[in-house]
Amino acid sequence: MCGIVGYTGFQDAYQVVINGLRRLEYRGYDSAGVVLEQPHHFDVAKTKGKVDDLVAISKDFVGRAHVGMGHTRWATHGVPSDNNSHPHLSNNGKIALVHNGIIENYDVLKIMLTEKGFTFKSETDTEVLVNLIQYFMDTHPEMDFPTAVRSALNEVYGAYAITVLHDDFPGVLVVARLGSPLAIGLGNNEYFIASDASPFVEFTKEAVYLEEGHMATISLEKGVDIRNIKDNVKITPQIQELKLSLEQIEKGGYEHFMLKEIFEQPKSILDTLRGRLLVDEGIIKMAGIWDHLERINQAQKITIIACGTSWHAGLIGEYLIEEFARIPVEVEYASEFRYRNPIITEKDIVIAISQSGETADTMAAIKMAKEKGAFIYGICNVVDSSIARITDAGSYTHAGPEIGVASTKAFTAQLTILALIALKLGKHNGHLSNQEFMRLITELDTIPQKVEEVLEGTHQITKEIARKFVDAQNFLYLGRGYNFPAALEGALKLKEISYIHAEGYPAAEMKHGPIALIDENMPIVIIAPKQGHYDKIVSNVQEIKARKGKVIAVVNRGDTQVADMADYVIEFPETSECFSPIVASVPLQLLAYYIAVFRGANVDQPRNLAKSVTVE
Ligand code: F6R
Repeated sequence: MCGIVGYTGFQDAYQVVINGLRRLEYRGYDSAGVVLEQPHHFDVAKTKGKVDDLVAISKDFVGRAHVGMGHTRWATHGVPSDNNSHPHLSNNGKIALVHNGIIENYDVLKIMLTEKGFTFKSETDTEVLVNLIQYFMDTHPEMDFPTAVRSALNEVYGAYAITVLHDDFPGVLVVARLGSPLAIGLGNNEYFIASDASPFVEFTKEAVYLEEGHMATISLEKGVDIRNIKDNVKITPQIQELKLSLEQIEKGGYEHFMLKEIFEQPKSILDTLRGRLLVDEGIIKMAGIWDHLERINQAQKITIIACGTSWHAGLIGEYLIEEFARIPVEVEYASEFRYRNPIITEKDIVIAISQSGETADTMAAIKMAKEKGAFIYGICNVVDSSIARITDAGSYTHAGPEIGVASTKAFTAQLTILALIALKLGKHNGHLSNQEFMRLITELDTIPQKVEEVLEGTHQITKEIARKFVDAQNFLYLGRGYNFPAALEGALKLKEISYIHAEGYPAAEMKHGPIALIDENMPIVIIAPKQGHYDKIVSNVQEIKARKGKVIAVVNRGDTQVADMADYVIEFPETSECFSPIVASVPLQLLAYYIAVFRGANVDQPRNLAKSVTVE
């Protein structure tokens, strides 16, 4: 989604802003813009397209200013176009604003402002907000700039992170957030503003994450003044030390972030297990869950809410928790859950899974479940993200920053956490014998090594297979049991980065419909580990081959039965069925990656997609 960068200090604001926008490219966007503060006017450049397109039209901005801001836009109101790109200026040209989010009541405000004589150049909700600020200043001459911003914000509904400049208040940046994240980097005689800390991590390790409903007025003279938007109450900033390093957010020699992140999985899974899985002591130590074990174990049911890839992780979580802890689990799309009237009581536990911790639908679903009295457990990757902060307890997946839009290492880290939770609950409530618990945790401990092996063993072969299917128009992904959600995830990876239509199904469902699609042109990826329902999968493969479908079999090392029938074989090391999606997902990620690369697609920033979906 949209990215915001702002700067005031001694450096060249243009360079800081442009470099910062590049760091935020991963969020997904379709246009970009920059504004620099000049004596009595703004220098503005904005365009549909990428940051490179912006640089092409604004190169001569270098060295012009020490205060400025920039924006990458992911279109919501109005098509991607130069006019709709941010920044937007007020009618009098004195106020410049960049915005991430949606102003839901922009249409009524636009009518009101139009009646007052305001005109609009774009179709955006943002241009309404900037003119609303002007309107407050025009009609209340005594009002200063931050007060006008606050007054305008108190009139709008929706979600926003904004940064605003005013020509008559040089060197002052006003920022605010409700629903969309915003961080303030505290440098030495300089301040940075950004949607996350990545644009300023090389300049400072100290940041303030603006809280929901707060705004800040920032200037070199007066520092950072944080207020509550609603009633202007002053708030003491909570300064945080950034753990993020530059190395983590660079490609490190890989062609794409996605490939780097796929290869980081042995480490990210290990980091997620570190300090939690203590095999020698025979325990799982999870600070987040420890204090709440009783409550969770006595839960009437657990509802897992998430979106996209995180929802697929949730489905596997359901299998894990029901198998080992015998607590009923339901998995819901957060976007559906929030708009129906689900039966949730204070006896329920809700587990919210989100890589970014900012997904608007998941946030809203959590708030609803909280109102109904449920205990909310969060599984997030981004430390201190909004979801991490509003949940009652939780565990971080320590996957490190995930920059490729298509989630890979965050997914396998989510599966790792869910396995830990299920085993911990099962051990605690006695459904899992000590012997079985020890067998499973000993095996879980080997998963990083198995993922390492699968990367080494399948990298080349998946690349070769990918080459054969560059022109495919459809794909089916099939799996049973724990690997049915892995099939869904494999299909999602392929469609989001290669734009090939792909569907995942439980293998047995094939005969209830999708089998009609199978002919010699249909590639079918089938996940068939030895454990679970292997003999049933063998029959499914026979049914596919009888209809001449092209089978890409993802099987355990040394498999002969399915492998002999398949057109292409990808092998992965054997592991218990419950952990097999972690290992089997890796070659599926590689397959999607290479098909997309060979099709010339922009793997890290696929069209229309955003990394953190902060609008509904
Ligand atoms: C797919 C992908 C998305 C996200 C979804 C939820 O590769 O990344 O489907 O999983 O948008 O995002 P989070 O996990 O940040 O809530």
